[in-house]
Amino acid sequence: MASLPYIVGNWKMNGTRASLSEARAIDRGAARLPKVQVAIAPPATLLHRTREAVELIGIGGQDCHAKDSGAFTGDTSAAMLKDAGADFTIVGHSERRTLHGETDADVRAKAEAALGAGLAVILCVGETEGERDAGNAESVVGGQLEGSCPHSDGAVDKLTVAYEPVWAIGTGRVPSVDDVAAMHKAIRAKLVSIYGEAGAGVRILYGGSVKAENASELLSIRDVGGALVGGASLTAESFLAIVGAAA
Ligand code: G3H
Repeated sequence: MASLPYIVGNWKMNGTRASLSEARAIDRGAARLPKVQVAIAPPATLLHRTREAVELIGIGGQDCHAKDSGAFTGDTSAAMLKDAGADFTIVGHSERRTLHGETDADVRAKAEAALGAGLAVILCVGETEGERDAGNAESVVGGQLEGSCPHSDGAVDKLTVAYEPVWAIGTGRVPSVDDVAAMHKAIRAKLVSIYGEAGAGVRILYGGSVKAENASELLSIRDVGGALVGGASLTAESFLAIVGAAA
């Protein structure tokens, strides 16, 4: 049976306790749209409160450390996310890869740590504009998948991949339908080469300037199993419009 479309809001470094009203409104709205799986990744400071504020939607972290505990000032372990109520964590977001220098090996270690802590994983990949212009988008993304996909037992069953072209994040620019379709097809093929037939069941999300206006078209593309939404996930109104487009 095909899985439900999965719409995930990544709040990034946005949100204070006042934002819990948006989380509650997203939760109520999602209850009216049962044919869509909905989740949000609030900042770590809000995870526990968000868990207590919502009933239906999934809750996740935006990143985790690869170690369970230790002298890593400012970091948060997967076990801590789990303890705060997370169901999953994002790893390998381009903002982590670019601004924090995370390598594919780092991302794989984080994904393995998350799985070990009982979290599902949303693993982000995506090319820069220069890499696309040079005709290297598929090889770059394929390399990221080879280097960062987790390999522990059962990993494939708890894995979601998010394709986010770096140049489309927060810019209002979106790749053509043909380019999204070609990349998702290439990601599917790579996942099958990594995991065998189980790779055919991994959900692949598209992320990068998803809005209510373009969501239906993006979500209708073969192998696009949902969306990872940044800016438009910060209010219930704009996020639920995207969830509604997926229903
Ligand atoms: O994680 C979400 C993505 O980076 C997309 O962000 O929807 O603001 O372009 P955006």
